[in-house]
Amino acid sequence: MMTLIRPIAADRLPELLQLMPKAELHIHIEGSLEPELIFALAQRNGVRFPYANVEALRRAYAFSNLQSFLDIYYAGASVLLTEQDFYDMARAYFVKAAEDHVLHAELFFDPQTHTARGVAMDTVVKGLHRACVDAKAELGVSGLLIMCFLRHLSEEDAFATLEQALPFRDHIVGIGLDSGEVGNPPEKFARVFARCRQLGFRLVAHAGEEGPPAYVWTALDLLKVERIDHGVQSTHDAALMQRLAQDRIALTVCPLSNLKLCVFPDLASHTLGQLLAAGIAATVNSDDPAYFGGYMNDNFTRTFAALPLGAVEAYTLARNSFEASFIEPSAKQAFISQLDESFATFR
Ligand code: ADE
Ligand code: ZN
Repeated sequence: MMTLIRPIAADRLPELLQLMPKAELHIHIEGSLEPELIFALAQRNGVRFPYANVEALRRAYAFSNLQSFLDIYYAGASVLLTEQDFYDMARAYFVKAAEDHVLHAELFFDPQTHTARGVAMDTVVKGLHRACVDAKAELGVSGLLIMCFLRHLSEEDAFATLEQALPFRDHIVGIGLDSGEVGNPPEKFARVFARCRQLGFRLVAHAGEEGPPAYVWTALDLLKVERIDHGVQSTHDAALMQRLAQDRIALTVCPLSNLKLCVFPDLASHTLGQLLAAGIAATVNSDDPAYFGGYMNDNFTRTFAALPLGAVEAYTLARNSFEASFIEPSAKQAFISQLDESFATFR
């Protein structure tokens, strides 16, 4: 049942967006590595890093498209070697999430970026899992892990990665698909996703970030994913918009990412409002916050400042984030009750 949302003055909106409980469903944990932590880990591990200092690295964050970002993002991840490194990275993210009233986060990780450098799957998963356990106990933020296959690599490589992850099955709720989209359509991974489905993993995939609506269709129909990451290109296909709305397929939209990667020329041109108006279960997320200039609340406040969105849309986005999450039903209901309470008491 939908709570009745009272209109609020525009100048109170940032406070409402900050305070409202929310879930983040699209965060690449390697994309939360801030330049300061990259340099600290490079020094701790004796890794040579191809930028002189934090400022020089930040200056390089001027991207023209997804690939121009991915090149720097994979270089940044090269400083991660030990279980403690993965723990420290995720811990720093959870601290930021707690500040933004994120009650629940589903963390993507890219094991192939690490195993290709000789870092064991065990090191990656144990560090991230321990950070999730401690975040719940110490910060009150729940976390789940979603392992992504890199789509620029082969399906065979994805199968080998799945095999390496099976000893940690209990620590991984779902499987995703990321990296360079155009030229690497979902169908390339149909067999490995079928296997993951048999194994009981929840399934998601990046589609329609830079790639065409056709990739969203095949992610749904061939990979059988439950959520689409990004999906903003769907507005170019009316039948797809209907399908997404009818089947309540959530889109994990990342406005500041879309801005930094030149998917839209400015936030005023973003189609988040159009997706919501079409009845699609859109959510707001940060994608790679250390690279794109903001965490959850930066995404909410800057997008709401640029578009004609208000309290009703804020509630809908937060509610969608809990509804579309992979947490168990009773926890989901408890989060939604907290959301309702925060709107009922906001003055
Ligand atoms: N890996 C990290 N961020 C990504 C994005 N925005 N799209 C695809 N792959 C990614
Ligand atoms: Zn992403």
